[in-house]
Order: sequence, then structure tokens, then C-alpha cells
Amino acid sequence: PDAAEIVEVVTDWYAASARDLPWREPGASAWSVLVSEVMLQQTPVARVLPVWREWCERWPTPAALAAATPGDAVHAWGRLGYPRRALRLHAAARAVVEQHGGEVPADHAALRALPGVGDYTAAAVAAFAHGGRHAVLDTNVRRVLGRVLDGVAAPRPAITRAERERAEALLPADGRQAARWSVGVMELGALVCTARAPRCGDCPLATRCRWLAAGRPETGPPRRAQ
Ligand code: ADE
Repeated sequence: PDAAEIVEVVTDWYAASARDLPWREPGASAWSVLVSEVMLQQTPVARVLPVWREWCERWPTPAALAAATPGDAVHAWGRLGYPRRALRLHAAARAVVEQHGGEVPADHAALRALPGVGDYTAAAVAAFAHGGRHAVLDTNVRRVLGRVLDGVAAPRPAITRAERERAEALLPADGRQAARWSVGVMELGALVCTARAPRCGDCPLATRCRWLAAGRPETGPPRRAQ
């Protein structure tokens, strides 16, 4: 199927069906987006929501968190798990203050250089917070694209160069539109095209999906919990 058509179908579905999540609101600061992405790396949305709210109220800017102690950050992390993420976020806040004048950078490489920020998180913040044109490849996105375009059930453990190049080729030319496509395809993977019990009957890409057309074969590497 044609890329522009897939993008349109998914962004329309997103506009009608996505969850209202506070870090996706137009007024969300780049800092609050960065905090959300670090929290969401290993923790489900429902558990992140209350902690994210409390965290952003207490430390609405990188400077505010940088002025706190690392212990405060770990304590506020609560039960999100992997508490080293709290320490890295605290270190990232200090780096933003010291190296970027307190503003979360928009540049992918500058984001990538912050503690706790990998390729995925750098792309997500550059795209969602700043409208940068970056392929945002998390497990959900990779699963949707692998099913629709390749007809395989689950993504490989590591992202290949070809996979990244294809994802970049799919991006709309405009950065904001590219970000809407990325968050839309991510949401489709989270809500409909799930790893274990995909709801193909509710999927806007059902008529265009190679995996569904092939009878949903259990191909590819074994599934792993996220
Ligand atoms: N919206 C933007 N990024 C997200 C993520 N990582 N998980 C869930 N929703 C998101």
C-alpha cells in the first residue's frame, strides 16, 4: 500500500481514537515530555500518570529538579521501578541547566548525549516536543510496521538499518505531521495491534495489512514481554 495512504488512515484513527494523555497536549513542555518518555520506557501508562503529574507539579522545569537532591528524585519516583532512571533524569536536568541554558534541546544528538536518553527517547522528545522530523521506533511502532508491511508477527530484537531507513521514508515531510503519524502508529500498537491479542476487527489498517492477509502467521522471533 501507498505510504501517504497509510499515514492518513493512521492519523485519522489517532484523532478519533487516541487516549487523552497529558504529555500529548499542545501546551505540554519539552521537559514534561522528556519526563514522560523516561517514565514510560519501562512502566505502563496507568502507573506513570499519577507520578508524572506529581513530578511535573513539583519540578516544572529542569532547573527546579536540578536544585533538588538525587535522593528527592528517587523518593518521588515512587514505585515506578528501575529507580536508576530517577537518578539519570536528575543528572539530565543538571546537564540541561549547565549545557543548554535550562531548555531541553531540540537537536537529536544533544538529547542523545543526556543521561538516560537513548535513540528512542531522543527521537521521541525531538519529535513530540519540538516537531522534529525523526522516526520514532519503539516496540509498538516496529510491530505495527512489521505486520502491515512485512507480514511478520513480531519485530526482531534489534533495529536494522533497513528498518530505520524505511521508517524514515514513511515520515511526512512536515515535522509536526511526522510527529502525529509517529504517535498515532505507536498508539495503534498500544491499543489495537497488540503483541498478544491484536484486535484486527478494530484496526484501520486491516484491509492493508500483509500479516492479516496471510492469516496472522506466528512468524519471526519469539515474543517477549515489554
Ligand atoms: N505518547 C507519547 N509517547 C508515548 C509513550 N512512550 N507511551 C505511551 N504514550 C506515548
